[in-house]
Amino acid sequence: MLPNHGANPQLIFEKLKIPLPTHINDFSENINFAGIPQTIQQGWNELLPLIEKYPHPDGEPFRSAIADYHAIEKKNVFVGNGAAEIFTLLANVLAHKKVIIVHPTFSEYEQALKAHHAEIIHITVENIVEWQLPIERLKRQMIKADALFLCTPNNPTGVLPPRQQLLELLAWGQQQQCLVILDEAFIDWVDEKQSLIVQVANNDYLCITRSMTKMYSIAGLRLGYAVTSQALVTEMGKYASQWHVNALSAVIGVQCLGEQEYVAATIEQCTKQRRYFTEFLQKNGCITTNSCTNFICFQLPQPEKSQTFYLDMLLKGIIVRHTENFRGLDGQWFRIGMKTSEQMALLEMEMTQWLTHQSFL
Ligand SMILES: Cc1ncc(COP(=O)(O)O)c(C=O)c1O
Repeated sequence: MLPNHGANPQLIFEKLKIPLPTHINDFSENINFAGIPQTIQQGWNELLPLIEKYPHPDGEPFRSAIADYHAIEKKNVFVGNGAAEIFTLLANVLAHKKVIIVHPTFSEYEQALKAHHAEIIHITVENIVEWQLPIERLKRQMIKADALFLCTPNNPTGVLPPRQQLLELLAWGQQQQCLVILDEAFIDWVDEKQSLIVQVANNDYLCITRSMTKMYSIAGLRLGYAVTSQALVTEMGKYASQWHVNALSAVIGVQCLGEQEYVAATIEQCTKQRRYFTEFLQKNGCITTNSCTNFICFQLPQPEKSQTFYLDMLLKGIIVRHTENFRGLDGQWFRIGMKTSEQMALLEMEMTQWLTHQSFL
């Protein structure tokens, strides 16, 4: 059994008892390869005194900055120690309730919900390439469910379902009193205009979760937020520990929001790389999903060779994200995050060699 998450590459080598190569190229995680924005690096020393005091209990000044950024009310913003903490708090709120998860998707919703004994209804999409939502089936299930988790754009397929479909589900959720949780951790790479945050003002059965860790490359710091009804903000707060958002995160988060040029440059570069690499994979007989974000999900021309491919890449120090723990993908697909041009060129070369060799076997 392989580790369930991208990142922490040494764990994979340890688990498989493969000596750790000197050079690792890790495509298994989805964090912005450009690294922390420069202004944050430059101002680092001035942040040091923050460590000496307790942070604000509600994640200020980040909470107010988020409200301004999205032009929403502060009472609708809940700041968390990464989006991961928000899933745990939501799972507390949803303990013993009926919750729908649409697969294949991020595995941590299920993990958090299971720990709180929620009754999970698993629905797998029929078309992986388009991660096409089974709207009528979902609507039927929502009548008797308390909540629905949807990852938009989805991890690991990268697909953003059509806005009209999402709006239909939000309206249905409101009518059926079924909380719709949209995980927009990767919407940063698409366009803020695609976010459904504005809908929260008119819908008490909507919760949008966001992560600051991917776009701004601050995964180690931990910072995320939810935009939802005031009632749910209060409810989640009851389960959070005191000072759950550290003082550095709350200040650096505000600085990140000012980095719109960095965001635009990142989107431009990632989009170019995604298009180029998708074309490369397709030319070589791979199937790719319709990703609109900073990673690609693909299947080899011979999916039965997936394990061999994974191990062969590891031996070259290249880590791609396996999909063993994604329901509906079952290890037959891979996900790769976009990295520097040099790293993408290396992956292209190694994959070309591997695929050419396989065609002679
Ligand atoms: C879809 C999705 N949502 C949320 C998260 C967690 O984000 P954070 O680092 O803010 O906890 C991840 C992390 O991999 C993710 O892939």
